[in-house]
Amino acid sequence: MKLKAIILAAGEGKRMKSHLPKVLHKVCEQPMIEHVVEAAEGSNVEECIVVVGHGAEEVKKSLPSHIKTVLQEKQLGTGHAVMMAYDHIDDDSLVLVLAGDGPLITQDTLNALMEYHKNGGYSATVLTTDLTNPYGYGRIVRGDDLQLEKIVEEKDTTPEEKMIQEINSGIYCFSGEALRKALPLVKNENAQKEYYLPDVLTIMKEDGRGVGVYKTLDYKEIMAVNDRVQLAEVEEIMRSRINQYHMREGVTIINPSNTYIGKKVKIGQDTIIYPGATLKGNTVIGEGTVIGSNTVIDDSSIGNNVEIQSSTLIESKVDDFTTVGPYAYLRPNSVVGKHCKIGDFVELKNAQMGDYSKASHLAYIGDAEVGKHVNIGCGVVFVNYDGVNKHKTIVEDHAFVGSNANLIAPVVVRKNGYVASGSTITKEVPEKALAVARAKQVNKEEWVARKGLLKE
Ligand code: UD1
Ligand code: CA
Repeated sequence: MKLKAIILAAGEGKRMKSHLPKVLHKVCEQPMIEHVVEAAEGSNVEECIVVVGHGAEEVKKSLPSHIKTVLQEKQLGTGHAVMMAYDHIDDDSLVLVLAGDGPLITQDTLNALMEYHKNGGYSATVLTTDLTNPYGYGRIVRGDDLQLEKIVEEKDTTPEEKMIQEINSGIYCFSGEALRKALPLVKNENAQKEYYLPDVLTIMKEDGRGVGVYKTLDYKEIMAVNDRVQLAEVEEIMRSRINQYHMREGVTIINPSNTYIGKKVKIGQDTIIYPGATLKGNTVIGEGTVIGSNTVIDDSSIGNNVEIQSSTLIESKVDDFTTVGPYAYLRPNSVVGKHCKIGDFVELKNAQMGDYSKASHLAYIGDAEVGKHVNIGCGVVFVNYDGVNKHKTIVEDHAFVGSNANLIAPVVVRKNGYVASGSTITKEVPEKALAVARAKQVNKEEWVARKGLLKE
C-alpha cells in the first residue's frame, strides 16, 4: 500500500503579524514546514503533497524539489484544503494529513498512529491529546461507548463541550478510498462557514465505517504555532529535545537553555559546549573538542580535540588539535590543518593552512594557500583584491612572514623564505631568502632640539 502525506500549509497565519508565510518561520534554524516534511519522510512516506495558498510561491521555493505542491486559492477550510489534493489520493493508499504549523510532530508518533490505524482496521484515525487548557482547539466528543462521536471546533462548542480537555491534533491517518468518498460530502454549515476536515470522520461513521482515536500523552508533539509566543515555546521544546539527545550521546552542554544546535548537526563524544554557542546547518564536530561561549559555526566540519573560543566559522574545515580564537572569523572555504593556531582577530577567507602553521593575532588571510609550519606574524595582510579582481597568494612550508607585512597578490613566498616585518611584498621571495621591502631608517641627530620641541 502506498503511503502518502498531505501537509496543509495554505493558511495566512494572521496572528503571526508577518510578511513571511507562517510555515516559513524558523524553528531551530529550519522553516516549520521542513520539520513536518522530515517527520513524514522519516516515517517512510513515499509522496508528500503540500497544500499552498498564502505566499504560495515563497513556500514552494523553500521546499525540496521532489515535494509536490497543490494550490488552494481561497482558504475555505481544512477539508477544502485536502480536497485540492484529491487527484493525488489513490483508493488503495494510506494518507497521513499533517499541519504545516505543527513542527514538533515526530516520526515515532506518526508510526504509532499508523500502526493503531492498521491494527484497528479503521477508515480514519485521529491523533488526540489531553490539554489542561484546550481553548482554541477542536474538541473530541466521545459517545457513551467512548468511541468518537464528532469533533467540535471552539467556535461551535456548547458550554458543556468547552469543558472537554481531549483535543484534535489536526493530524490524521486515512484509508485513501474512504477519504475520497467522504471529502466531497463535507459541508460548510458552521460558525466559520468553512469546510472542516474533521467532519469527514462523522461522515465515515454515518457510512458505517470504523473511526479510531489514538491519544498520545506527549501533548508537546501536537503544539501548533499560531503566534510568536507559541513560536518561541515550540522553539524551546525543540531546542531542549535536540540538546538532550546530544547530552545522552556524551556531549557536555554547560547551559542547554541557551545553546542553539540545529537538527542536522553531529557532535562527537566528550565535546564540551559553552553557553551561547550556535551550531547550524550540516555542521559536524569531532570528539573532545571545546566550543567556547558565543561561537557560531555554520555548515562546517571541526575535528577532534579542537578548541574554539568566541569565534564565527562558516563553511569551513578545522582539523584536529587546532585552536581558534578568541574572535577569529573563518569565512567560506577556509581549510585549516592539524595543530594550527588561528588567534585573536584573525580572518580567513578561501584559504588553506597546512599543519602546524600559526597566525596568532590580527591578520587577514584571503585567497591563499599557506603551507606547513608557516608563521604569519601579527598584523599581516594578504592583499588579495585590486579593486576589480581577487588574486592568490602562496606561502610555502616553513616560511616566516614578519609582523605587519603586506603580501600583494598574486605573489609567492617560497619554502623557508623570510619576510622582514613591515615589508610590502610585490615580488616572489625565493627559497631561503630574506625579503626586506621597506624604506631604510634615517636618524636626524638633534632634530627635536633644533625644532624647539624639547621638554624636560
Ligand atoms: C484545526 C482543526 C482543529 C484542531 C487544530 C489543531 C479544523 C476545522 N480544525 O483548527 O480541530 O484542533 O487544527 O491545531 O480542521 N489550512 C489550509 N487551508 C485552509 C485552512 C487551513 O491549508 O483553508 C491549513 C493552515 O495553514 C494550517 C492548518 O491547515 O497549517 C490548520 O489550520 P488552522 O486554521 O490553523 O486550523 P485551526 O483553526 O487551528
Ligand atoms: Ca492552527
